[in-house]
Amino acid sequence: MDIKDASYLISSANYSQCPTPDRPEYAFIGRSNVGKSSLINMLTNKKSLAKTSATPGKTQLINHFEIVSDDKKKWYVVDLPGYGYAKVSQSSRRRWEEMIQHYLRKRENLQCIFVLIDSRHTPQKIDLEFINTLGKWEVPFAVIFTKADKNKPGATRRNVEAFIQELLKAWEEAPPFFVTSAETREGRDLVLSYINEMNAAYIAK
Ligand code: GTP
Ligand code: MG
Repeated sequence: MDIKDASYLISSANYSQCPTPDRPEYAFIGRSNVGKSSLINMLTNKKSLAKTSATPGKTQLINHFEIVSDDKKKWYVVDLPGYGYAKVSQSSRRRWEEMIQHYLRKRENLQCIFVLIDSRHTPQKIDLEFINTLGKWEVPFAVIFTKADKNKPGATRRNVEAFIQELLKAWEEAPPFFVTSAETREGRDLVLSYINEMNAAYIAK
């Protein structure tokens, strides 16, 4: 499966404004600056579809993109605002939490939440806590390690293994996970075939 067409649809301030849930949907979330927007652009082959920035906190809304794949299927990709940006007030942090919780728990066509983790770092508490919260909510997710091109050989594997080991302290089995780079396009085929499998399993409600 490859992507034939991708276009920006709408940005919503909350769950209830999101477009009609009439097709499978895949959301990308993770720490501010982890590479969510860059990954979406890499997957869709569109350089400036999702807005990327060297300044963290660029994405503030729930951004829907309409995708058409070469098998004529239509689905949504969602770029979500990042967490863990230090210069954010208590009140906007709470607003983020509420918006994200409503969206992730109520969005009925959401097939998978891709949680992005920076492959350059050893396991971070904030990411582990976020994933454990997803577990508590019983929502399906997979992990995507980003920016693999920035690592020396061996460092990616070490950090990935350490992260999975940390997850296994709280989980019986490891989630599906992928190693990617928006620069070299590493991981693109594997993520797209995973989405393809979920598209095939999708039954409209
Ligand atoms: P927010 O929306 O602000 O939370 O950020 P984001 O997670 O969408 O990150 P974004 O895609 O804007 O990328 C942040 C910075 O990292 C940008 O300067 C990107 O060019 C850079 N970047 C993202 N992915 C990669 C990657 O795979 N490799 C390299 N070398 N740089 C990357
Ligand atoms: Mg972004």
